[in-house]
Amino acid sequence: MAFIIAVAQQKGGAGKSTVTANLAAALAADFRVALLDTDPQATLSRWAELRAGQPAARPLTFEAVSGWRVPASIDKLARDHDIVLLDTAPHAETDSKVAIRAASLVLIPMQPAGPDLWASEATLKLAGSEKRQALVLLNRVPAQGRLKDQIGAELDSRKLATLGPGWGNRTGFATAFMQGLGVTEASPRSTAAEEVLASVAALKALMPG
Ligand SMILES: Nc1ncnc2c1ncn2[C@@H]1O[C@H](COP(=O)(O)OP(=O)(O)OP(=O)(O)O)[C@@H](O)[C@H]1O
Ligand SMILES: [Mg+2]
Repeated sequence: MAFIIAVAQQKGGAGKSTVTANLAAALAADFRVALLDTDPQATLSRWAELRAGQPAARPLTFEAVSGWRVPASIDKLARDHDIVLLDTAPHAETDSKVAIRAASLVLIPMQPAGPDLWASEATLKLAGSEKRQALVLLNRVPAQGRLKDQIGAELDSRKLATLGPGWGNRTGFATAFMQGLGVTEASPRSTAAEEVLASVAALKALMPG
């Protein structure tokens, strides 16, 4: 049975699609990976189209469906892949619930700022009501400043765990995305790639077997 990761966060622009694409590309080095874009905005579909023309892109399965078709697609992809990653839409509680219900793990990208933390509460509540393990992935963490520590303390006080140290605010993520690649493929020696690989190592530790 596949390990299913729902990348969810009600707040728009938190980095759901960036996180999903980069984890998928990095995990595809070691696993049979499927990506399901459940967001009608189709951000990842555009990424996948660009990816098709890239020699550096590791093979992965891509599908885009939304609404009532999502559970059946997840079931089908889970049959012949090790990992299924779900990108979800912002502000879509019903759709997020479907993805979260199917997930082994809910990953919540969050920028280290108050409004983002507060907006995460809706997604955390959904994960809680579906009894799913949820981890925060701090994203666009500024290189300097006290914000990260402040948010770290807030997460601790709410007993929220993170998936490793998080990802910095780096143009490399946007550059790779526009090429249909993950940063581990576009610039394997970059700090961004190191950050993604640290998250991948943390994910591997959570996967059964
Ligand atoms: N770590 C990062 N460093 C720099 N830019 C980033 C990073 N993560 C995301 N971005 C940029 O932030 C913007 C929003 O990211 P993304 O589309 O992944 O968010 P999203 O949560 O999927 O948005 P939506 O809610 O609209 O689906 C994009 O322009 C992306 O390139
Ligand atoms: Mg998105």
